[in-house]
Parts: sequence; structure tokens; C-alpha cells
Amino acid sequence: MDVVSDVAEIRARLQGVPRPLGLVPTMGALHGGHLSLVDAATRHCATVAVSIFVNPLQFGPGEDFQRYPRSLDADLQELDAAGAHVVFTPDAASFTPPGRLTSVVVASLTQRLEGSSRPGHFDGVTTVVTKLFNVIRPDQAYFGEKDFQQLAVIRRMVADLDLPVTVVGCPIVRDPDGLALSSRNAYLSGEQRVAALQLSQALHRLSQEWAGDAATAVATLRRTLSQASGVRLDYAEVIDPETLEPFEGVVEGPAQAVVAAYVGDTRLIDNIRLEPAGSSPAA
Ligand code: PAF
Repeated sequence: MDVVSDVAEIRARLQGVPRPLGLVPTMGALHGGHLSLVDAATRHCATVAVSIFVNPLQFGPGEDFQRYPRSLDADLQELDAAGAHVVFTPDAASFTPPGRLTSVVVASLTQRLEGSSRPGHFDGVTTVVTKLFNVIRPDQAYFGEKDFQQLAVIRRMVADLDLPVTVVGCPIVRDPDGLALSSRNAYLSGEQRVAALQLSQALHRLSQEWAGDAATAVATLRRTLSQASGVRLDYAEVIDPETLEPFEGVVEGPAQAVVAAYVGDTRLIDNIRLEPAGSSPAA
């Protein structure tokens, strides 16, 4: 497995590699969720590239850019064992230099939910993901469904700009007790981790009780999580999985419940698919 930091070098390394070429973009501090993306990429693609870049553009002032977990040596060992062929590790000074003048902005879809709580976040994500697509030129790119809005935004960007890449969304990976894997779980104390479980528990309960009434579901979810000990709710909504618009009345088709909350200083997000009332839940 080769590890390359320079744009010209990675382009040269990927010239003529067996296709399809899969890309798994990450910010490192890898966990089982990332490894499930690498696993999917190795099953579908002849060559697998992984990027590790803690992207300063997607962190707002006062967010956790400085303390975001970094574990490059361990990450590289895991990626080698997982069968990745190339790892791209650009440095911020050259990949996102202070003088750059160009951003990639997806309108409207980015203004709600995460975008409302983290202004500018998605502009940072789409700018860097576009750069990664442009440098690596993957045929397929793999993203986790835990960042549900991010996945929708990237799909929309790819469609709107006719980028020649297929975006593959992969299911959330959870610890056995239900906590969605996240690099930010590393910030949680034992007590906070127990508090954080209330997010996945509330979502799971909602998906079991879901009868298609969005107003009742949202009210229940908000009440449950507002009263949850050690949790400070940011938002809880039931949305259209394509448009991300909130549902308010009776829902006939699929829906997605999405939540964001603080546990201590740690901001966590989670979501679950709500299958149309009467249909059997997806495996
Ligand atoms: O999901 C992430 O880890 C990041 O948002 C991504 C897609 C690697 C862009 O920096």
C-alpha cells in the first residue's frame, strides 16, 4: 500500500491503474464504519484509494478542528490490512491554502439541519470532495449513511455538475448496543457514552412505532430527547430522504428520522429509515 501526500505524485501513481477505481474519502481516526466503506470498495473495485484529510474548511469557528482525533499510523495499518492500495494524505497548507478563491456550493439542501447549526460546513465538504474527485478521478466514491445530509448533498453536487463518479452510500455501522460509530465517540467519557445511547434508542423505538404520522413522531422524538439525561437536543425531524424537506402530516412513502444532539461538548448525529406503514422493515 502506497501513502502519497503530493497531488502530482498521487496523479502519477494512479495513472493507468486497473479500473474501476474506488475512493473512500475520510478524515482519519478510522473505525468500523470507515472500514465497512473500504470493504465495499474492495468488493466492487480493482483499485481502492482512501484519502485521509482533516479538512479545515468544514469546521466552523469554535468547533473541534484542533482536537479532532488523529491517528495516522494506526489508520495506515488498518487500511493496509483492509486491502486498500493507495492512501492520499494531503497537507492543509497546500490542499486548502489560505489564498484560495474558489468554493463549490450546493444551495438550499445545505441550509437546513446540519447546515443551519453549522453554517458553511457543507461548502467546506463539497469544495474538498470536489478536489478529491478531481485529483483521484474515481469511478466510485463511498460515503456512510450516518452523515445522511452529507450523502444527499454530494449526490446532488455530482448530478448537478455531471461529475463522472458513482456515489455509493453504505449503511450505518453500530456498536452492539446501538451507538452509531463516529470518530467523535472518542471524546465521550463512559457516562457520556451511556447518555449518547439514548439517541439510537429513541430512533429505534420510533422506527418500530412508526405509523406514518410525522407530527406525532417528531413531537415524541423531541420530547424524549429533550428529557434525556445528559443530552442537549439540537434538532429532531422526520424528513423526505431525497429532498430533506421536513414532513409534517401523513407520510405515505419512505421517510428518514434525523437527530443531532450534544452530549457534553460532543456533537453527535444519527438517523434511521422509516419504512412506509404496513411494509416490512429493511434488513
Ligand atoms: O465524512 C467525512 O469524513 C468528511 O466530511 C469528508 C467526506 C471526508 C470530507 O472531508
